[in-house]
Amino acid sequence: MIKLQTNLSFKSIFGITLITVALGMTACSSPTNPDIKARQDIMKNYGDAMKVMGGMAKEPDTFDAAVFKEQAAFLAEEAKNPWAHFTDAEAVGNATEAVWSNADGFAAETENFQKVTAELNAAAQNATSVADVMPAFSQVGDSCESCHTEYKVKKDN
Ligand code: HEC
Repeated sequence: MIKLQTNLSFKSIFGITLITVALGMTACSSPTNPDIKARQDIMKNYGDAMKVMGGMAKEPDTFDAAVFKEQAAFLAEEAKNPWAHFTDAEAVGNATEAVWSNADGFAAETENFQKVTAELNAAAQNATSVADVMPAFSQVGDSCESCHTEYKVKKDN
């Protein structure tokens, strides 16, 4: 009798947990706000592109001009896309309050990012080695970091 009750209550707690997870309501799941999700998805793709190019930068022998060009073009093309998803100050995500309180500073970071990704894309067009893209590639890395320092909540990246 007691055992049966224990089983039932365990089952219902487990059921609630599953529903919570399915609806994305737990603290660590992906956000339900469409703006936060959209910009985080783009940022994740930036991270993937940087990993591919960064891998070649670390091991210059693996430089593949076509792949590098593709990733650089992707970044340059996507560089304008996340910012429209930062208009709603209620949609905080892992952005700091400075995105809205220092909107001019944030806008300057977004413009610089578009400039340096365009330069990397241009450098990649005729590159035959990592050396040809390295200066432009570091500028892009610096731009990610510079913006994150002030405008992204410090976590794992
Ligand atoms: C102009 C500012 C800015 C620039 C430039 C920028 N980011 Fe971000 N990034 C942010 C902000 C703000 C967040 C937090 C977004 C949120 O959680 O709502 C973020 C979040 C991220 C995340 C976490 C995404 C997630 O799933 O939560 C990654 C990864 C990331 N950025 C990578 C990059 C890389 C790589 C670059 C450069 C190629 C870059 N970012 C350039 C502002 C920027």
